[in-house]
Amino acid sequence: MTKRPDEDARDPLRLSRRTFLKTVGVGAAATGLIGAAPRPDQAEILGPDAVPLSLKVNGTVRTTTVEPRVTLLRALRNHLGLTGAKEVCERGACGACTVLLDGEPVCSCMLLAVDAVGHEITTVEGLGTPERMSPVQAAFVEADAMQCGYCTPGFVVASTALLRKHPNPTLEEIKAGLAGNLCRCGTYSRIFEAVQKAAKQRG
Ligand code: FES
Ligand code: FES
Repeated sequence: MTKRPDEDARDPLRLSRRTFLKTVGVGAAATGLIGAAPRPDQAEILGPDAVPLSLKVNGTVRTTTVEPRVTLLRALRNHLGLTGAKEVCERGACGACTVLLDGEPVCSCMLLAVDAVGHEITTVEGLGTPERMSPVQAAFVEADAMQCGYCTPGFVVASTALLRKHPNPTLEEIKAGLAGNLCRCGTYSRIFEAVQKAAKQRG
């Protein structure tokens, strides 16, 4: 899981890249903890063959079979058909793959699918539908806060998490809250406007 620049060490669920590398190929089921490298004597060794996996995504338990090396992002996109989270940098740098894990924004490209077992995963698809958009989704449309749109799902998910923590954020809080997401088209001013609109609508 990525260490988003806006979240750093204040969240024990966050995995540094070092921890991620330590846990590759080792399920966290034995420890029940995401973010702590399991001790060798506690770790359940999985793989290298594909293993059955149940993930709770958008309120529904979904079962699939993946190799333990598969990231949550690829499991969502390639195995569960949820393509909202985008694959861009695959190194925790851009935030395009942001999903919520137990309500916290994480980069799904930096988390193994096997390590997401037992957690509540929410993707952009779980926030709303084209017919019934969430306030954040509707505000992004209203503010025209996108160009190519590739970064948009990640921004929408991160903005949703931000507004849950800061229902009435200042511009500086919005910038800090979205610091882990990059928009190559440079639509930042519209994105910040969308978050402010959504805050007003929610309020
Ligand atoms: S694709 Fe995950 S942070 Fe860029
Ligand atoms: S709208 Fe194109 S990358 Fe953000």
